[in-house]
Amino acid sequence: MIDLHTHLLPEVDDGSDSLEESASIIAQMLESGVSDIVLTPHFVRGLYQTTYALKKSKLEQLNSFLHDQALSVNIILGAEIYLEPDIWREIEEEHLEIAGTDYLLVETGLYAFPGNLYEILSGLLKRGFKPILAHPERYADIVRQPQLAEDLIQRDIILQANSGSFLGYYGREVQKTVWEMIKNRFIHLIASDTHHIWDSYPGSQAASAISKYFNNDLTRLLMVDNPRNILSNRRIELSY
Ligand SMILES: [Fe+2]
Repeated sequence: MIDLHTHLLPEVDDGSDSLEESASIIAQMLESGVSDIVLTPHFVRGLYQTTYALKKSKLEQLNSFLHDQALSVNIILGAEIYLEPDIWREIEEEHLEIAGTDYLLVETGLYAFPGNLYEILSGLLKRGFKPILAHPERYADIVRQPQLAEDLIQRDIILQANSGSFLGYYGREVQKTVWEMIKNRFIHLIASDTHHIWDSYPGSQAASAISKYFNNDLTRLLMVDNPRNILSNRRIELSY
């Protein structure tokens, strides 16, 4: 499995608080069959604005700590970008894309989409970025109206569900929404959005539940093939 959304770069956001914590979470993920992890610290104007230089040095520290612990995993730098008008400036200056690709992981207000959401997203598309909306199933607007997901897809927005949503970790409404979305093929990839250690890594349980309800091919597409294509900066199919 490839996990494209995690908060495991220590001390830069509300995720992992130390190298030790990151290493124990990564050990748990390795045991669950994860081979590649994208670190996506929050980038929120006025709240979390860690510079690229600091993130790079923390990435190096983490890599050497993992090496000392004999934990072999491919870790890649990205960000989870809170959408704002003109956010492309920070994206370009601070290299907020998923390393080496045109793909961006983005988020917005959980309780209400901003009125200019489509405008901001189309501005990013025009600049050649490929936005991936994190956990669409958690947005109140989509819970009320899952068809909004189709609207986003038609505008070339990629949708990333959280594995915990399939298991009810964010409540029944979100769980109902994500299953409805996957039935309609409105999900393009699944990631964990891990902040801290789990009782058990939700990726494995979500994979079994999806394989049981649908089939292994769909699980593979959403947890291995599409994430791998994103990391290789290849196109993924939005309608399938
Ligand atoms: Fe996140």
